Amino acid sequence: MSIKSTNITAVAHRVPQEERWRAAGHRGGVLWFTGLSGSGKSTLAFELEHRLFAKRYNVYVLDGDNVRHGLNSDLGFSPKDRAENIRRIGEVAALFAEAGVIVLSAFISPYQRDRDMARKAAGAQFHEIYLSADVSACEQRDPKGLYKKAREGKIPDFTGISAPYEAPAAAELVVDTANESIEACVEKLMAYVDEKFGFTQG
Ligand SMILES: Nc1ncnc2c1ncn2[C@@H]1O[C@H](COP(=O)(O)OP(=O)(O)O)[C@@H](O)[C@H]1O
Ligand SMILES: [Mg+2]
Repeated sequence: MSIKSTNITAVAHRVPQEERWRAAGHRGGVLWFTGLSGSGKSTLAFELEHRLFAKRYNVYVLDGDNVRHGLNSDLGFSPKDRAENIRRIGEVAALFAEAGVIVLSAFISPYQRDRDMARKAAGAQFHEIYLSADVSACEQRDPKGLYKKAREGKIPDFTGISAPYEAPAAAELVVDTANESIEACVEKLMAYVDEKFGFTQG
């Protein structure tokens, strides 16, 4: 990416981050879900959002529709555009996190390089969450019929079939969505958020 913005100075907030967090009762941060299509990113992100909101967490899901239709509507699915898609999402997630929100991002994000860029944007409050479900498990579910189409050659560069998926080497949390129930996965994630973001926990 070429950097065209020069002569930019850092903004100086007059609300210290600690105070923002204290007022909210929790830290802001990013739970960056990654996994194959059908691994459960959207299912778990929206269920988690619902449950965390009920516990008064400020939480927001970034998923395909609320990003691709607006901010990234100029991007397609070429490798270059996919990288730019993730780069922008990473930057937006970092801003939300700074504002005190727990962001649940639910994108395949198949390349470690791109996830690392998102991590760099969000800094210490970035948590890579690997939803480990292999191609055969996801293909059996095929909730959107995409694997079927991909097998028929109707979707080029489909992750797991005709495009690579790089599993995280060092995710903060691995959730085995192929073998555990949705409820068990959500419980695990809830406990993780309480532990890592709850403000009373040091
Ligand atoms: N443990 C689990 N976690 C998440 N989804 C699960 C789990 N077990 C079964 N599923 C099913 O798998 C599918 C996951 O689809 P979806 O959430 O759209 O995946 P993605 O957003 O990763 O493409 C859903 O039909 C969901 O009901
Ligand atoms: Mg999804």
